[in-house]
Amino acid sequence: MKTKLTLAIPKGRMMYESLKLLNQAGLKLDISHKGRSLKIDAGDATIIEMRNGDVPTYVELGVADAGIVGKDVLLESPANVYEPVDLGFGACRLSLIRPIAATGNIKRIASKYPQTTQAYLKSIGKSAEVIKLSGSVELACLTGLADAVVDIVQTGGTLKANNLEELEIIHQSSARFIVNRAALKLKTNELRPLIDALRKIHK
Ligand code: PRP
Repeated sequence: MKTKLTLAIPKGRMMYESLKLLNQAGLKLDISHKGRSLKIDAGDATIIEMRNGDVPTYVELGVADAGIVGKDVLLESPANVYEPVDLGFGACRLSLIRPIAATGNIKRIASKYPQTTQAYLKSIGKSAEVIKLSGSVELACLTGLADAVVDIVQTGGTLKANNLEELEIIHQSSARFIVNRAALKLKTNELRPLIDALRKIHK
């Protein structure tokens, strides 16, 4: 007998691409009548919709069997999940950024990704104060709150519009399919074919 999967999907721009890929992989999902519902019986799976930063937690703790989330978020999260497929969409990079004209040492860095920023500093043998912000991070180095920021660059539009430059690319990122480790065993008949199908699509 088939067990229905529960999938954690980020709201916003990743939702459409995620559902498209899952449908291509053979799940019949329809959320066209969801309204403002956050938990949706979408046909072949139950979809739970949340902020992207919460996806690893829902999957690690098994409330969702699997989910879709950006690698940038996964790098920052302590959650222990299985990450079997790079889905390819949502490509962006996590970079060290500062104003084009800036000179001098970087003593303070602002970021939505403080753990990743600390790990990066450690990897290059440098230290700086890292402060956590929650949005419009580039503003920090435009206002003097920080000397530099670590943030996402996708089209480069934000950098250009604000006279900022990328000093270094820290990580490449894209959407990943992640799976709860216990669910992989308990719901293997549902999850293994889905993982295989998603892998084939992105080949
Ligand atoms: C992200 C990111 C950058 C911008 C980069 O912000 O934090 O600010 O997109 O994209 P670009 O290179 O295409 O300009 P988002 O829109 O997610 O808003 P937030 O930072 O306020 O969360």
